[in-house]
Amino acid sequence: MTTLDDVRHALDQVIDPDLNKSILELGMARDITLEQGTVKFTLALTTLSCPLRNQMSQDARERLLALEGVKDVTIETREMSADEKKQIFGEPEQGAAEAFNHIKHVLAVVSGKGGVGKSSVSALLAITLHRRGYSVGILDADITGPSIPKMLLQDNQHPHTSQMGIVPIETPSGIKVMSINLLLADPNQAVIWRGPLIAGAIKQFWGDVYWGELDYLIIDLPPGTSDASLTVMQSLPLNGIILVTTPQSLAAMVVRKAASMADQLSIPLLGIVENMSYAECKCGERLEVFGPSHAAELAQEMHIPLLARLAIDPAIAALGDNGALETYAADGFAELADRLLPVIPEEACTPLQN
Ligand SMILES: Nc1ncnc2c1ncn2[C@@H]1O[C@H](COP(=O)(O)OP(=O)(O)O)[C@@H](O)[C@H]1O
Ligand SMILES: [Mg+2]
Repeated sequence: MTTLDDVRHALDQVIDPDLNKSILELGMARDITLEQGTVKFTLALTTLSCPLRNQMSQDARERLLALEGVKDVTIETREMSADEKKQIFGEPEQGAAEAFNHIKHVLAVVSGKGGVGKSSVSALLAITLHRRGYSVGILDADITGPSIPKMLLQDNQHPHTSQMGIVPIETPSGIKVMSINLLLADPNQAVIWRGPLIAGAIKQFWGDVYWGELDYLIIDLPPGTSDASLTVMQSLPLNGIILVTTPQSLAAMVVRKAASMADQLSIPLLGIVENMSYAECKCGERLEVFGPSHAAELAQEMHIPLLARLAIDPAIAALGDNGALETYAADGFAELADRLLPVIPEEACTPLQN
């Protein structure tokens, strides 16, 4: 006949997927009783809105009902007190969120100069990967010119802090976003920080944000070879870099500098995206508005693939201005994703310093 020990043993098999330990070991399953075939216990959760709550209760219920003689299971859920949380997690410390994050691939999007569409490409790449079923986050590392929230979010939202760290804001479809603009009281406020503060903010976006499980984290870097870019390339475990340029030769020249920086730090360059490459007219002809494309030559010179040549499409600008970029069809990005995914290394480049 089933004993209380058997019940405890069954609950020890129920794992909190976030913390990767059993709910018994974490002290989340409490006041366990077994009387006349009925198991009762309290499930104390870190937060009641915890999306995993139903999953853990369901798992516990199934395991308990599988025990001989158990006919009924009653689970009362409640939120842990601050003291209980402290016992499990300790005081929240800086960089603590990193321990809870499982990010499989980190990709940085880089351009030589501003205005070439780097943020749009970062966002649309994230959207495309998310539509393919991957879990995706965007870290907006452009601290002085953040534009990701404006492109993907409708209104001014502020992240809250959980025991696990700062919780990113999710877009309507579920892409996780973190940007300095989400933390400012007024998103129009200018950030006039010097290098070390900017580097600190970027490191916090990595170490103090609770990204959870992600297949891809896309990092939108500021243009050029600034301190912020160096911080990302030196201190985050990148799987690779995507270069964004436009047909102008100036854009090509400065993207070479950014590429050279990545190269010196031994971070794989995954390929080039030429944005605003041409405009498609109704007659079906391609107009090379910014002059002839140099993308193929550039890619060949750098020995990296040309991932895509993207058209000028006023819909990108219009939707991006209104926080509705997620509704863009993004057909041109299917090819980009098809070419990009196979060249992403599984192993991230180990950061040089922290
Ligand atoms: N392919 C495109 N077609 C039309 N407009 C674009 C395209 N790519 C970017 N834009 C627009 O150009 C402007 C600059 O793009 P953005 O992504 O902010 O560039 P960056 O991050 O390189 O500064 C934005 O208004 C954006 O909507
Ligand atoms: Mg930008």
